[in-house]
Amino acid sequence: TEASSLPQKDCSSITPPYPKLLKNLATVRRVIGDRPLTLAEKILYSHIHEPERTLANGIKRGETYLQLKPERVAMQDASAQMALLQFMSAGMSRCAVPASIHCDHLIQAAEGAEKDLERSIVTNQEVFDFLESAARKYGIEFWKPGSGIIHQIVLENYAAPGMLMLGTDSHTPNAGGLGMLAIGVGGADAVDALTGTPWELKAPRIIGVHLTGQLNGWATPKDLILHLAGKLTVRGGTGSILEYFGPGVFNQSCTGLATVANMGAEVGATTSTFPYTPGMRAYLQATGRAPVAAAADKAARSGFLSPDEHAEYDEIIQINLSELEPTINGPFTPDLATPLSKFGSFVKENGWKDELSAALIGSCTNSSYEDMTSVADLARQAKQAGLKTKVPFLCTPGSEQIRATIERDQITKELEDIGATVLANACGPCIGQWKREDKKGEENAILTSFNRNFKSRNDGNRLTMNFLASPTVVTAMAFSGKLSFNPMTDSITTPSGESFRFTPPRGKDLPEAGFTAGETRYYPTPTPEPQPETEVVIRPDSQRLERLEPFPSHFGEGSGNPRGLELPPLKVLMRVRGKCTTDHISAAGPWLKYKGHLTNISENLLITAVNDEGGDVNVAFDHDHSPSESETDTIPAVAKRFKARNQPWALIVDENYGEGSAREHAALQPRFYGCAMIVARSFARIHETNLKKQGVLPLWFVDKADYGRIGSGDVVETLGLADLLEGRNTSDRAIRLRVTPRNGGEAFEVPVRHTMSADQLKWLRAGSALNYIRAQIAA
Ligand code: F3S
Repeated sequence: TEASSLPQKDCSSITPPYPKLLKNLATVRRVIGDRPLTLAEKILYSHIHEPERTLANGIKRGETYLQLKPERVAMQDASAQMALLQFMSAGMSRCAVPASIHCDHLIQAAEGAEKDLERSIVTNQEVFDFLESAARKYGIEFWKPGSGIIHQIVLENYAAPGMLMLGTDSHTPNAGGLGMLAIGVGGADAVDALTGTPWELKAPRIIGVHLTGQLNGWATPKDLILHLAGKLTVRGGTGSILEYFGPGVFNQSCTGLATVANMGAEVGATTSTFPYTPGMRAYLQATGRAPVAAAADKAARSGFLSPDEHAEYDEIIQINLSELEPTINGPFTPDLATPLSKFGSFVKENGWKDELSAALIGSCTNSSYEDMTSVADLARQAKQAGLKTKVPFLCTPGSEQIRATIERDQITKELEDIGATVLANACGPCIGQWKREDKKGEENAILTSFNRNFKSRNDGNRLTMNFLASPTVVTAMAFSGKLSFNPMTDSITTPSGESFRFTPPRGKDLPEAGFTAGETRYYPTPTPEPQPETEVVIRPDSQRLERLEPFPSHFGEGSGNPRGLELPPLKVLMRVRGKCTTDHISAAGPWLKYKGHLTNISENLLITAVNDEGGDVNVAFDHDHSPSESETDTIPAVAKRFKARNQPWALIVDENYGEGSAREHAALQPRFYGCAMIVARSFARIHETNLKKQGVLPLWFVDKADYGRIGSGDVVETLGLADLLEGRNTSDRAIRLRVTPRNGGEAFEVPVRHTMSADQLKWLRAGSALNYIRAQIAA
């Protein structure tokens, strides 16, 4: 498998700077006191910015904020829009680190690869033009529509052992299959890396997953992560890195490990990683990166790419791969794991129809050469028995390289022979880009080899139950058409009346004839030079893209704030009741098309949030309304009125405000309408940081009962913020609030707590992190 038909890549920009990383790690060890480190710690800590200055108090996992310098940024076409709009307003002429853009999310599956691609390019032309022109201007590698899915391309081209990368997509950790740390973030975090600003992360806990034994029969790496998701649940990995170790890691393929790392996102893990293995070396060589493999070999000899002996994990999970059974997870949540042997009775117990309506394989999770050859093995067996799939069988190749290689090796033909439709190299049905004509509004069950299965995710139908399984289990079940079918034990009757049973599938991890690049017209120029004269294409009348105006600072000249370094008097817009996720704050679905247009997308602000005063959804009170205005209106409408009146405002919110995702629009939108402060019973951490980045002050009630004492129309003023900003009082209780009730009642004070670091206070003072970065760059 060492032979490669791909040309050797220029590896200078993709080989991690191992000597520099090792030197930095040695400094960190000296500063924090030498102790055995896990692999994840080694990679993370070797990327700490100025450790001597920033680690004065050592490192405590789960507590210390680390200032990190990632080596690369990858962005997909949906999230890249806001990331680039923010980067553009930072005022830099080029990116501080290599970066790439991948056109994959905006391609809709309907009729098959070619037509779908053509149609989606027309529908999204202005977004693709914008992304391409921005890429040209700033020297970013632009992977055109048709090139493939971000995570597969990153694995094939950029990932390398020991590297730290940020990606604007939650499945960025896929690249952990190559023994690195790849972390999914929002656009504002990507801008940190793109501008060379240290990126802040609270030192994660490290969960060790000790693997023994060997996968066999029908069990695949997908089953390992499906099983683990069942154990850990969707929250079990929060604030943690999953670090796999033990003998069971070393006999797995690199792409298999990538599948496992990919779905670490499903348990909420920051990312996942593995020690350097022979499989990783072989994969690097087969994908034209022998020099990276050679450098990694050397780094591994110094111990950099594996944990130290006696390294301590916060928790250890033991898994014996030899005992692992294929697993099916779902419906509607990726942590509901059922072993294949029990799945039939699970379906029966729930009273679901024993009927499969479609089978889908591929996506960024499972479209490796190994996956495709294993599936082709089943296809061959079935064809010989005279069988065809009983339900629509869709296959999404992860990249042009995979598509072209499986076509050359006759795998595509074998799949088509048994009834498969091969879709474009893009996300397609995995992200709901599936024009499904059957089963509308009907309860039905699909099986996929994807990673997520929330309601409506694939076909927009809330009644479609999506079960996640390995590509081989999905394929085998497509021939039976029944959910209760267990390919390990059950037979299918062939057209000639015989009984047929599959033998366990076998795949090849790498192609014997090497990979082939396929259509190189989809590929970018490697390491392009910025072309500063390029004009970034945004049509003045565009409804999908809009340049970002910097948010004004709340303080100082021109702010109109009479209170100096205290926030101006803020009117409370509403008191939000109960669960308020980033989906409640900035809904997805049809609003996704406005991701690059802040004015348009802000029309969805909090539209599914409940107002605690009255209990209604999407209702806010406007106590200062004019005679021509109504007293109540939708939340975005009232927020818009406040903005028009230059009335800065605050929100009072409940527990775990902003849980769910890193969606930065949930912070950008309130800020856009003039929100300056949010006071919560508690915040979800990532969202709290996103608010800080956009210049919104998040505060926590010291006494949670105070939540109910503040209502719409009340005026809230900060006391002590000036002292905090000026460094005269650095306590987390430096700020208090003075509340003047709307109804003329007596003003009272409320104690609050803040979590602002020294850097974050600079963002607040400047109006946003971006304003601060811009000022630094200008200086
Ligand atoms: Fe795309 Fe689905 Fe992966 S949306 S990036 S294929 S998780």
